[in-house]
Amino acid sequence: MAETDILKVSILGKESIHCGFHLIPYIVNTVITTLPSSAYVLVTDTHVANFHLTAFEAEFNAAFEKLPNAGRPRFLSRVIAPGETTKSREGKADVEDFLLLNKCTRDSVVIALGGGVIGDLVGFVAATFMRGVRFVQIPTTLLAMVDSGVGGKTAIDTPHGKNLIGAFWQPEYIFIDAAFLETLPAREFSNGMAEVVKTAAIWNEKEFADLESRSAEIFAAIQTPSTNNSGRTQASRSAAQQLLLSVIVGSISVKAHIVTIDERETGLRNLVNFGHTIGHAIEAVLTPTILHGECVSVGMILEAELSRQMGILGQVGVGRLNRCLKAYNLPTSLSDPRIASLPAAKQLTVEKLLDIMKVDKKNSGLQKKIVILSRIGATYEPKATGVPDSLIAKTLSEAAKVIPGIPTKNPIRMATPGSKSISNRALVLAALGTGTCRLKNLLHSDDTQVMMTALLELKGANFSWEDGGETLVVEGGEGSLQVPPKGKEIYLGNAGTAARFLTTVCTLVQPSQSDAKTTVITGNARMKQRPIGPLVDALRVNGSQIEYLESQGCLPLSVLPDGLKGARIQLAASVSSQYVSSILLCAPYAHESVTLELTGGQVISQPYIDMTIAMMKTFGITVEREADPVTGKLLDVYRIPKGVYKNPAEYNIESDASSATYPLAIAAITGTSCTISNIGSASLQGDARFAKEVLEPMGCTVVQTETETTVQGPPIGQLKAIGLIDMEPMTDAFLTASVLAAVAIGQPLEGRELKDADSPTVTRIIGISNQRVKECNRIRAMIDQLAKFGVKTNELEDGLEVYGKPVGELKKGASIHCYDDHRVAMAFSVLGTVVKDTIIEEKRCVEKTWPNWWDDLENKIGLKVEGVELDSADTVASASGTTSQDGSASVVIIGMRGSGKSHVGELAASALAWPFVDADTYFAEKHKIGVREFVHQHGWESFRAAETGILKELLTTSAAKHVISLGGGIVETPAARDLLKNFAKKGPVVHIVREIDEVVRYLGEETARPAYGEPVTDVFRRREPWFAECCNYEFINYTGVLTSEQNASVAGNATVDEVSRFFKHVTGQQANLAPNLAPGKRSYFLSLTYPDITPALRHMKDLTVGVDALEVRVDLLRSPKDFDAFGPYIPPVAYVTEQLAALRRTTSLPIVFTVRTVSQGGSFPDKAEKEAFHLLNLAVRIGAEYIDAEISWPEKLIKDLVSHKGSSQIIASWHDWTGKMRWNEASVKAKYDIAARFGDIVKIVGKANSVQDNFALYDFVSRVSSASNAKPIIAINMGVEGQMSRILNSTFSPVSHPLLPTKAAPGQLSYAQIQQALHLLGQLPAQRYFIFGNPIAHSMSPTLHNTGFEVLGLPHTYQLLETTDVGEGIKAALASPDFGGASVTIPFKLDVIPLLDQLSPAAEAIGAVNTIVPRLADASGTNRILYGDNTDWLGIVESVRSRAPALGAPQAALVIGAGGTARAAIFALKALGAQHIYLYNRTAGKAQILVDAFPDAHVELVERLGIWPGEGLVPSVVVSTVPASATTTEEGSADAVFLPVSIFDAKLEGVVVDMAYKPAETPLLALAKRVAPNWATVRGVEVLLEQGYVQFETWTGRRCPKHVVAERVLEKYNASA
Ligand SMILES: NC(=O)c1ccc[n+]([C@@H]2O[C@H](COP(=O)([O-])OP(=O)(O)OC[C@H]3O[C@@H](n4cnc5c(N)ncnc54)[C@H](O)[C@@H]3O)[C@@H](O)[C@H]2O)c1
Ligand SMILES: [Zn+2]
Repeated sequence: MAETDILKVSILGKESIHCGFHLIPYIVNTVITTLPSSAYVLVTDTHVANFHLTAFEAEFNAAFEKLPNAGRPRFLSRVIAPGETTKSREGKADVEDFLLLNKCTRDSVVIALGGGVIGDLVGFVAATFMRGVRFVQIPTTLLAMVDSGVGGKTAIDTPHGKNLIGAFWQPEYIFIDAAFLETLPAREFSNGMAEVVKTAAIWNEKEFADLESRSAEIFAAIQTPSTNNSGRTQASRSAAQQLLLSVIVGSISVKAHIVTIDERETGLRNLVNFGHTIGHAIEAVLTPTILHGECVSVGMILEAELSRQMGILGQVGVGRLNRCLKAYNLPTSLSDPRIASLPAAKQLTVEKLLDIMKVDKKNSGLQKKIVILSRIGATYEPKATGVPDSLIAKTLSEAAKVIPGIPTKNPIRMATPGSKSISNRALVLAALGTGTCRLKNLLHSDDTQVMMTALLELKGANFSWEDGGETLVVEGGEGSLQVPPKGKEIYLGNAGTAARFLTTVCTLVQPSQSDAKTTVITGNARMKQRPIGPLVDALRVNGSQIEYLESQGCLPLSVLPDGLKGARIQLAASVSSQYVSSILLCAPYAHESVTLELTGGQVISQPYIDMTIAMMKTFGITVEREADPVTGKLLDVYRIPKGVYKNPAEYNIESDASSATYPLAIAAITGTSCTISNIGSASLQGDARFAKEVLEPMGCTVVQTETETTVQGPPIGQLKAIGLIDMEPMTDAFLTASVLAAVAIGQPLEGRELKDADSPTVTRIIGISNQRVKECNRIRAMIDQLAKFGVKTNELEDGLEVYGKPVGELKKGASIHCYDDHRVAMAFSVLGTVVKDTIIEEKRCVEKTWPNWWDDLENKIGLKVEGVELDSADTVASASGTTSQDGSASVVIIGMRGSGKSHVGELAASALAWPFVDADTYFAEKHKIGVREFVHQHGWESFRAAETGILKELLTTSAAKHVISLGGGIVETPAARDLLKNFAKKGPVVHIVREIDEVVRYLGEETARPAYGEPVTDVFRRREPWFAECCNYEFINYTGVLTSEQNASVAGNATVDEVSRFFKHVTGQQANLAPNLAPGKRSYFLSLTYPDITPALRHMKDLTVGVDALEVRVDLLRSPKDFDAFGPYIPPVAYVTEQLAALRRTTSLPIVFTVRTVSQGGSFPDKAEKEAFHLLNLAVRIGAEYIDAEISWPEKLIKDLVSHKGSSQIIASWHDWTGKMRWNEASVKAKYDIAARFGDIVKIVGKANSVQDNFALYDFVSRVSSASNAKPIIAINMGVEGQMSRILNSTFSPVSHPLLPTKAAPGQLSYAQIQQALHLLGQLPAQRYFIFGNPIAHSMSPTLHNTGFEVLGLPHTYQLLETTDVGEGIKAALASPDFGGASVTIPFKLDVIPLLDQLSPAAEAIGAVNTIVPRLADASGTNRILYGDNTDWLGIVESVRSRAPALGAPQAALVIGAGGTARAAIFALKALGAQHIYLYNRTAGKAQILVDAFPDAHVELVERLGIWPGEGLVPSVVVSTVPASATTTEEGSADAVFLPVSIFDAKLEGVVVDMAYKPAETPLLALAKRVAPNWATVRGVEVLLEQGYVQFETWTGRRCPKHVVAERVLEKYNASA
């Protein structure tokens, strides 16, 4: 066998871990000789098999060759699918079956070759197969080598969680062959490095330091493949291999040691869980997209921050850990783009993470076990520490809140972090210098980290740490720099200083031998907007070759090496002094000595230039500044000699003076004292002047020595405004000054007052225009954020003015957006110390300069800080919902004159039963003069003012439960518009939209309003945008697309119905939602896939049979002029509204408004999110009941939509068209969770490849639906194989219809088809329905109901049960299990009551039952009860309402007759709101019984028809309940009721109902037709139909297909008549 050098590590007392390179022969030999067996079974996955299986096979077989034939062992291999899903019960069974099938016995040796998945799975199989067989681990991923392979933990996953079932089972050997890593994908390598870094971080600082400084070499070791088995022997091992192996072995040794001491994880072993408590929780959400190590990497940083917060770990430790992980390409925060860009990242809420941690077996109660680092290489306790949830929540939360109060550490004495400016300069200087320099008090922040990383990538210097990281040791590279390898860009994030300095540094780079020709520097999106132009211009003019790769004047840049020529360089220095410093720092290394001339007048931030020059001097290069020979005045010209920096042995970095302004400002604002111990008057930093030049004039006592600054604030509330201040020397401190100015209400000191200000307490800050191009536009930022406190400001050309206000008057609860700018965050936390509930939204942005700011606020200053979780989805929703909570806010109606405001408004008022207020009428009453006359007398201007006054008044006095219609010109004045917009926040402001042509036509006839004096169309054009801006809803009052012919087919009261639907919906009084959406019911929608819906309107009644809603596929709508346009398409908004308006006039079914993009299977362009949301928002405005929003759209847009959805419901949907989505994968649950957050209904659509996929779907649905607050879910598999899912889906199953042009999706079924299928599947058992009565042979009811069943595809039957009494026959029918319901007619409406368990209120009041419904007694669904109802009255109500929709509540109504039906009639009229109910019966005694039976209906007896009691109000509704034969229009009949002409007031519009069934035209109806043409007549059979529809719906829960049913019934009725 080939010679092999092995490093052995012992675990649990056995040297079973063998490490080296190219070990396959060694492994095979060791296994065969020391683990004799009859069968060696190697299990691996396809990836690993591709690379390495043949080598093993060959080696085993070669070894067996040498053995005698008899008793030769077998070598078997099993290759399984890669990936976590394999680590399942099914995966385990697969391996076991393989072993059994191959007759493996107890002596078998199982070999796991692969990553952690293979190791865990195969290990678990080995643990239980034949009660345990020997096994060997050959980990092939770094993670498996250092972690999962070592320790003997094995497990599989279940749908309930990862690793829940497993065993401890130690392998005989663990062979670590580092050569396997050469084939491992880089990301998997990094994944393993997370564990390596983790182990070093808890155990071994030295190792950590190696990992920190040698990442490039370690990567190199796996990136260059080793040939000829190099590395197998010590002699052939490269330095890189040596390093790699030592890192792996080091890590394994720690783990082996810990495992040996504590095999079963009782204490010490927990240490290896560092980063895992939080990491696992993150992983639970992000798996499988983000790998274990990546989640643990973020977890380590969060857990380190936690120990920093507890005051245990210093920022140095957190910073080092962060840098080190980044060096291995690992994410270190949840805002890392790799994580933040995932849809699932939306679920990473604090609450959710804590919830997941709760499940961890190691945790208990309100504490979590977390490994707390005390420094790099050591932990706080030799085990995990219990940490309260509140602390964890604080660390995890994105936002922070300072609790106002007096700092408890007063008087405060503290140092602030090292200066960012000095740190960055020192890094560049020391890197370019010669010799070693120890940098002390270096700032550990994003900024310096970026700078160090960049210098490393340019190979400009070496860095290492001393004193536990307190000291950075820089070995200068003397100006030697290299172009990074091709494809490697230097990424600077948003670090401005680094970008400026490095731009010139990159010109110093020497050309390299590598393939890369230029150095590329780049940054994040914001960085790519920040200017660099003046510097690049100056360098280009000087001869450097620098290209902009994206936008002109900004990063990214491509810089050609060896480019700094030197000699004279001219630079415009009015934007940033950093350009100047950049050139100064690099100037000594130019080809010729540099003379730098600053041009452009005003030089910005001279102190920073001076700082650079002073520091260069410390590093041995003296810059000379020219002076005017005559005046001696210093010029903006600098001479820099050629040379090399000489590094001082040690350099102490001064604290950051800008940072110091925050604690000092806290002293100022809270009236306490603060000393900053390392900044004084000798400071090089301009911001060091802040105390003397800003705080002192504001009334603070300031004592400053050369090295120290102390500030004592005046008592709270006594800060003085500054008046005018030029902050040019300390621009970064202006934010701090601004927040103080906001509460400064004392007069400025004498001589500082502003002569021209409109308030004495204004602070005017100037000289800071450069702050517009910092991390954000800081001037704008301050103005916008201060406004949230109610603080007034003015923006100036080079600064701003702040109007001071008493602290108590500042608005509480401001939520501050920080623009990712550390200074905004810290400045506003100063204000937060005095203003309650100020939330700083992005607390982590302080990392740039003061990462532990929040900890220092607590620990050093003594102010409590709380974590705040911004659940923005909810906050937005509650902040600006458009409808009032209880739906009682008044409706305001606006629109053009002639758009139909009064008409629609009156109908709306009637539908809502609210008073209608016409503002013009109100105006006339109030001013005692008509609108027209008023304008005539006082002119337009006064009219508008008066009109606005009226609006204001109405919106206060009639703010609730009114419908207010306003004049068309109300939107002309800004004041009125503001009133409207404000009102729209709590109630509906509805714009009545009508085509302008129709308006013009209409106006021709109307004159009540003042004439416009200008063309109506011009007025229209001007006001249109104002209407849109003021309203939150639009009622479309035109139906241009309905041609007159089609109009005829549409019922006359379409507008009335639509007004009623719309206004009940937008007020929230009665949203027009589908009742069948309730749990336990089935609901359906029909997808309309027409490019133009209007031709289909006439079929709508057929099309909509059975369905609960209509989906309008807006993406498929196509305006006729674009009919033949191909490809993705955006339908015009006007076309969409018109289509919907037309549809609304045809059906009142709820509408599902859907815009599907191409990649979601629709026609809308994928990228057009703006247009899509324009349409979705339109859907809310026009009152679409359901709006489908794909969760893949940008979160912000969805949240915004959700925030003002009003009564509309959001269907949050996810479509997977690839066919790859598996319902049992965690990713589907992740999608569900996101959708459930935004949506009222969740929709997930996959694609079935086999029928099994539907079972998986079904499982998924039952799992998620079992949660207590589960949302309704639409879950469907597309494709023919998915049809079953469409049958079983219960919420809004999309259905097709044979009449539709195309199916909306492949596999769609019709409603009736689904019912048939459900029946066959046993999901819809056939039921029997009856009619009880005598005689009933001629009853229309069987025709009515059986037609309904037939049309809907329901398997039920309806039959006659004619009996002589309510006896055994009826009882048997009621008791049979398939009893579905019954109609009851004469003579059993009373007799049947004793058989029933419960009566409806109506049946109770009427005292009769005509409908029996079997119901479940309770939710458990076991006991059936019989429920008696009465739908006769509803038949009357519906008849009246549908014939005279505008009737409203009749002032008087008449009932003729006093039998059972009369009772129903009285009940119905009461429900209709009749104010007076008259009753006429020939025998008054019987009538009196009814009067007594309905005491609160105030029934009044009529002695003679036509002579009305009381005030004599004339009835507008007449209901006769006596047989036709008992009435006559002939006077003087003895045995019939005489019907005089005076029953009907021909002037009224009314309805007369004759309940008599035969003949079709009774004397009463005939009389009405003759004398009262404005009256609608209703025949008995029509009432029968109406009540039958209701019955049908009560029984089946489905809308009755009225038109077909009516047709058949009337046909039969007419035939028999
Ligand atoms: N038992 C333990 O103590 C323990 C500890 C940590 C993690 N784990 C488990 O380990 C699993 C993760 O392990 P993993 O990260 O190794 O994942 P993995 O096994 O899925 O391997 C990652 C990927 O790399 C491929 N691969 C493996 N070696 C390769 C090679 N040499 N060349 C090319 N491709 C190769 C694999 O096929 C797979 O696609 C998880 O299931 C986790 O729960 C267990
Ligand atoms: Zn781990």
